[in-house]
Amino acid sequence: MTLEEIGKLPEDYEVCLCNGVLMGDILVAIKAGHNSVEKLMDETTAGTSCELCQTRKIDEDNEREVHLDEILEYAKKEGLC
Ligand code: FES
Repeated sequence: MTLEEIGKLPEDYEVCLCNGVLMGDILVAIKAGHNSVEKLMDETTAGTSCELCQTRKIDEDNEREVHLDEILEYAKKEGLC
């Protein structure tokens, strides 16, 4: 997913299917200073089950549309963290 596409995701988009973590939850955590994949996992539980939503590298078969590392990249570009 491109950074532009990530910016258009609704707040209720489910980023982590295993744990039901939404885009809005991730953005709130990022704005609160959780600015790494590990910190986001600790704060939101996203990525803590099958782990596929953590990074593009882990999700080799592109089973998830978006990953925590991409959302962080987007947030850094937008100055959210
Ligand atoms: S989809 Fe996030 S841990 Fe499985």
